[in-house]
Amino acid sequence: MTRVTVVGAGFVGMTCAQRLAEQEVAEEIILIDVLEGRPQGIALDLNQAAAVEGYQSLVIGTNDPADTKNSDLVIMTAGMPRKPGMDRSDLLEINGKIINTVADYVQTGSPESKVIVVSNPLDTMVYLMAARLGFEKRRVIGMAGVLDSSRMAFFISEKMGGGIRDVRCMVLGGHGDSMVPMPQFSTVDGVSITALLPGDQIDAINHRTKHGGAEIVNLLKTGSAYYAPSAAAVAMAKSILRDEHRLLPCAAHVDGQYGLRDIYVGVPCVLGAQGVERIVELELDDAGAQSLQASAQSIRKDLETLKSKGLL
Ligand code: 2OP
Repeated sequence: MTRVTVVGAGFVGMTCAQRLAEQEVAEEIILIDVLEGRPQGIALDLNQAAAVEGYQSLVIGTNDPADTKNSDLVIMTAGMPRKPGMDRSDLLEINGKIINTVADYVQTGSPESKVIVVSNPLDTMVYLMAARLGFEKRRVIGMAGVLDSSRMAFFISEKMGGGIRDVRCMVLGGHGDSMVPMPQFSTVDGVSITALLPGDQIDAINHRTKHGGAEIVNLLKTGSAYYAPSAAAVAMAKSILRDEHRLLPCAAHVDGQYGLRDIYVGVPCVLGAQGVERIVELELDDAGAQSLQASAQSIRKDLETLKSKGLL
């Protein structure tokens, strides 16, 4: 039996649970939150939708970490979301403490699990999670590139006048203002968008992609995006649990790839039953390579802040 734990019953966590159930990614989906009643209520509601939707997955809501034990996969969504005007880095300290608490019960209760981190600031939180868990690094992965690429795909389809199914994008680097959209590796049915759209339109798409999260925060005013983030996390979960070997941009631990070491950063990864099975090294042009290094630098800065606060 496959068990997936979703930590955090906020909007991202609850939509993850919904997608996991509707797509029958696991027989049991454990939704855990510190708020009493919320995960239980969401679980009951989702179970009561099962007869209509026709899914067999069971959702279990809990406040007790013991109920998450023996999970095959954990999706970590808990943490404070951004408010308008906030940078993802403003969440470092508060979300860092939550990561450490969750890592401690995942390490003892689900020592064989793979862990997908969604909490922000993403690249730093996934590093902290991996450090605290002490698991093989390939088993701990951050969700960001799939989301950022999906946003970019939508913006391309808008400019092209529809047809989103054929759009595939690649966004590398950190999940922040320094992320690196890769138009040359973004295609419509195999044709690079650099051959399909004028440079100024590609620049506008890149800019909107980089600020895709903030655009939604500013519209919602009281929270951040959740439909696309949960879709991205569940796509990664499926690739791992079903051993699909999909090539997806994820925050992975690099050990020399792209000239980077001991950091989590968005790179193209093959995701399968072992977690990150391979990091694919693309031939980047000078601008792309420099942007990736700059992005890694800003992640290192956040890691230093975490260290200075004694969290890492
Ligand atoms: C976003 O980009 C929440 O970081 C997430 O919407």
